[in-house]
Amino acid sequence: MLPRQTRVLHADQARPSEAVIAEASALLRDGGLVVFPTETVYGLGANALDAAAVRRIFEAKGRPSTDPLIVHVTSVEDLPALVRHIPAAVAPLAARFWPGALTLILPKRPEVPDEVTAGLDTVAVRVPSHPVARAIIAAAGCPVAAPSANRFSRPSPTDAAHVLADLDGRVDLVVDAGRTDIGLESTVLDLTVTPPLVRRPGGVSLEALRELLPDVQLVSRVMHTGEAQVSPGQLLRHYAPKAHMTLLDGPTDLVRARAVSMARAGLARGLRIGLLAPAEDLEVLRRALIADTPALAMRSLGSRVEPDGIARELFEAIRALDAQRPDEIIAIGPEPHGIGLAVLDRLTRASEGRVIRCGAESSGA
Ligand code: TXA
Ligand code: MG
Repeated sequence: MLPRQTRVLHADQARPSEAVIAEASALLRDGGLVVFPTETVYGLGANALDAAAVRRIFEAKGRPSTDPLIVHVTSVEDLPALVRHIPAAVAPLAARFWPGALTLILPKRPEVPDEVTAGLDTVAVRVPSHPVARAIIAAAGCPVAAPSANRFSRPSPTDAAHVLADLDGRVDLVVDAGRTDIGLESTVLDLTVTPPLVRRPGGVSLEALRELLPDVQLVSRVMHTGEAQVSPGQLLRHYAPKAHMTLLDGPTDLVRARAVSMARAGLARGLRIGLLAPAEDLEVLRRALIADTPALAMRSLGSRVEPDGIARELFEAIRALDAQRPDEIIAIGPEPHGIGLAVLDRLTRASEGRVIRCGAESSGA
């Protein structure tokens, strides 16, 4: 049964009030669903050791039960209760990246319910750095399973308004502490395979991981809906706006020229076209399409020279552009390194694989 009423409590980012933390943690202990902020995105939390509570997460999100959850704890010291064997790489990774936006996949102990791990023999664990998340988990006194607090296949929420748009009436409590800092999800690193595999690029860059794990590999980005999933975040329909999105990839000048010709073709067919791009690209497109601007919906991702800002803005930008109801969205991403890799991953999924590699294709798409 889903809760009928969702309460919203405000919390100070850095110093949440004890009353808010007490209420959120009591709900978690009682098997309730609590949405709380993390430094990446908002999470939809339940007691990870309470199978019935965990099942309600899937119900609230409309998420298939084959898609495992991340378990949130406050310290690397909490691992032995969840994990059967702790590989040698964990200590240096935890020392460098925890608390923070890195999730580790490790062999699970039988005490972790199958509901959390979708029956897998492994469990994903993360130590968040957000003071509100940390205070709630510590006060609850249990590990907290929490996927991103969005309805299944929608963009992840970076503020409480996104959460309520998707989950009002489906969770017990939303703790609102303003916008999240990183803006996209943690990096998921599988330490149960050799070499270690990044199953989802995220808040910790591949370059930073390579400093500690020189042989780390990145799982191939695009996977088709319906294929067997090792890491369900690879599901292609994800983060999707209601409008069809196409991502343009390649050298900047070719990408911009392609965006202009695609936009003109769409407008000529009477479609309302959305443009989602870094500020520099959007400015060029705006000038080229100046006569058509009233029929265009444009949303900047922020400057190319500030990829952290683009990551922070991404999901809000997708939701805001979608709210202008374009028929089609043409998207341009940042450079494919650092956090830009994670941004491109999310844009690829939001496009459900409609990616045009400009300069590489022989015929039009
Ligand atoms: O930043 C984040 O990671 C956010 C915040 C709330 O912590 N959480 C999040 O959870 O993004 P979710 O459920 O939306 O994504 C979890 C991803 C899944 O897509 C799945 O690929 C992977 O973690 N995952 C979880 N358990 C796994 C496992 N045992 N094996 C492989 N992948 C797993
Ligand atoms: Mg998610």
